[in-house]
Amino acid sequence: MLVAENLHKTYRRHAVRVPVLNGLNLEVKAGEFLSVVGASGSGKSTLLHLLGTLDAPDAGRVLLDGRRVDDLPGRERDALRNRTFGYIFQFYHLLPELNVLDNVLMPAYIGHSVVGWWKSRSRWRARALELLRKVGLTHRLAHRPRELSGGEMQRAAVARALLTNPRVLLADEPTGNLDAGTGGEIVRLLRDLNREDGVTIVMVTHNLEIVSATDRVVRMVGGVVTEDTPATPRPFPHPRLAAV
Ligand SMILES: Nc1ncnc2c1ncn2[C@@H]1O[C@H](COP(=O)(O)OP(=O)(O)O)[C@@H](O)[C@H]1O
Ligand SMILES: [Mg+2]
Repeated sequence: MLVAENLHKTYRRHAVRVPVLNGLNLEVKAGEFLSVVGASGSGKSTLLHLLGTLDAPDAGRVLLDGRRVDDLPGRERDALRNRTFGYIFQFYHLLPELNVLDNVLMPAYIGHSVVGWWKSRSRWRARALELLRKVGLTHRLAHRPRELSGGEMQRAAVARALLTNPRVLLADEPTGNLDAGTGGEIVRLLRDLNREDGVTIVMVTHNLEIVSATDRVVRMVGGVVTEDTPATPRPFPHPRLAAV
C-alpha cells in the first residue's frame, strides 16, 4: 500500500553533509501495525517524514497504492497530507491556547474555508466528540493542554490525528515522553484502532517492549532496513478489512 523505493536523503548543514538514508526499501501493507526501530540518529524520523510527504527524498520514490506521491505539486500534496495521513509526535504538538476539543478540530479548521467550516461544523464536532470518547477524554473537553497529564495530551493528539479519518497513522515515538504504564496505554489504544478500524500504522519507537504489540518490526542501520521480522503472531489481515 505504502512503498519506499530506494530512498536517499542527505541533510546539508553549512558545509557538512549528513547522509541519513542510503537506498532504503520498505513496503507497508494495508491494515498492518508496523514498528520501526533503530539507534538515535539512524534516520527513523526522516523516514517517517518522507513516507508522509512532509519532506522529499533526494532520490528514490514513495508510492501510495502504486501512485507516486513524493513529487506531488503543493495543492495535491496538502490534500493528501490532510486526508490520507494522520501524524502523532513524541511531544504532542498541541496548541496551548486551545482546549482539547478545539485542538482535535484543528485539522478541520485548516482544511476548510470559513464558509465551508460553518456549513460542516456540527458534523466535525460530532466526529471529534466520538473520537474523544474513544480515547477516553470526554471529561476533559474544555481543558487546556497544560491542565492534562502526558498520557492525556497524547490521547488528544491521537484523536486529532484521526479526525479526518486517515488511512495511515504515522507515529514518531508516541510513547517517548511517557512512563511505561502510560506508554503502554497509548500503544494499546493504537493497537485497538488498528484492529477495530483497520487503520494502517507506522510507529517509530525506541522501546522494544511496545514493539510486541505490533505486527512487524523493521530495524534501521546505516540508512537502510537491516532486519524485517514478525513481532507477534495474530490474525492478519484483519477480517474487517475484507469488507472495506
Ligand atoms: N533538518 C535537518 N538538518 C540537518 N540534519 C538533520 C535534520 N534532521 C535530521 N538531521 C540529522 O539526520 C540524522 C537522522 O535524524 P533522524 O531522522 O531524526 O533520526 P532518528 O529519528 O532515528 O533519531 C541525525 O544525525 C540528525 O542530526
Ligand atoms: Mg526521531
